[in-house]
Amino acid sequence: MNFENIIIKYGTPAYIFNIDELIKRVEYLNSKLSFPLVYAVKANTFIIKELENYVERYEICSNGEYEICDKLQIKDEMMVISGVNKEEDKIAKMIKDKNILKYTVESLNQFALLQRLAKENKKIVHLLLRLTSGNQFGITKEEVKKIINDYDHEYIVIDGLEYFSGTQKHNLNIIEKEINDLNNFINELENDFNFPIKEIEYGPGLPVYYFQDNEFLEDEFLIKLNELLKTFKIKVSLEIGRSIASSCGYYLTRVVDLKSNQNGNFAILDGGINHLVYYGQMMAMKIPYFDLISSKDCSEKKVYNLCGSLCTINDILVKNIELKELKIGDTFIFKNVGAYSVTEGISLFLSRDLPKVILYKNNKCYLVRDTYKTSNLNFPNVVEE
Ligand SMILES: Cc1ncc(COP(=O)(O)O)c(C=O)c1O
Repeated sequence: MNFENIIIKYGTPAYIFNIDELIKRVEYLNSKLSFPLVYAVKANTFIIKELENYVERYEICSNGEYEICDKLQIKDEMMVISGVNKEEDKIAKMIKDKNILKYTVESLNQFALLQRLAKENKKIVHLLLRLTSGNQFGITKEEVKKIINDYDHEYIVIDGLEYFSGTQKHNLNIIEKEINDLNNFINELENDFNFPIKEIEYGPGLPVYYFQDNEFLEDEFLIKLNELLKTFKIKVSLEIGRSIASSCGYYLTRVVDLKSNQNGNFAILDGGINHLVYYGQMMAMKIPYFDLISSKDCSEKKVYNLCGSLCTINDILVKNIELKELKIGDTFIFKNVGAYSVTEGISLFLSRDLPKVILYKNNKCYLVRDTYKTSNLNFPNVVEE
């Protein structure tokens, strides 16, 4: 990838998602893990279609995510409709018009809704019951048992469980404990309720190491994880977002102003925390992986705070970093931004334009979203009644 040419052609700020790298990444995960992947599309919706041949299915958590997948012609058989707040009119339409693979159950009310809609439409609906880890997601073990005792066998098929308790799990002991607990519960359902759970969709929250002081022996981690997962004696699929998507993403942002005061040197960039989200980047104290394209080479070094374009003192991407003296126009290429930055940033703040999104594939760039004016979204369109 020639970033200089990309910057000249497309300008900044922009995201580039390198699809060749994405495919290598997902092939790597598939080579280390003997269980099929479910891509959690919330991590990055721009790469959904590219993953079609590498994942078993997609985890879709809102009607918006569903609309994107549907427009991309993702097959119904690859969709798992998940998420809290399953809107009745939207779900009713899906059940009526589509043959979606599965729906997750996040509450007893959701279960009742899905069961009623299945019956009304005389459609068989497959369910994964999401077990809670104690937050607002999923249902308790008691509620799982209640559903298993009461459900309408004519239209509802309970395929199994879904479990996801959080992201960035660096500690395999935590994962091991989760897997043991899940296995115990699966055995309990089988032995005490005579209910064989056929499958589990498990989100291990695979970690991504974003900062330069981290070391991560990923091969080892994945081999151990794979062994732990083998203790499930049922079908397992792995619901993953961050670890699939992060490494393919680059964020380009240019120095637009430079200044110094009693607290240091400040480079103002044309991007910021509205576009770039590094998990664990507290107070911008850590140094993410990045390259710098300088217009002029300069031997003098200075310590900078790299700030974004928002009106908040929190808009700092990196604090106290020593760099060759910066010039206006120098461009930073922040790495590992393929997951969540493009979907999770506080992108409406200050009505800054949304960055371009470029997919890079087989030595070619494809502009898949142009700069988007959020001032249109933040404008009060008053219509006289
Ligand atoms: C239910 C569920 N599954 C999977 C994921 C993906 O997690 P990660 O990006 O850590 O793989 C999330 C992330 O929030 C989630 O909420």
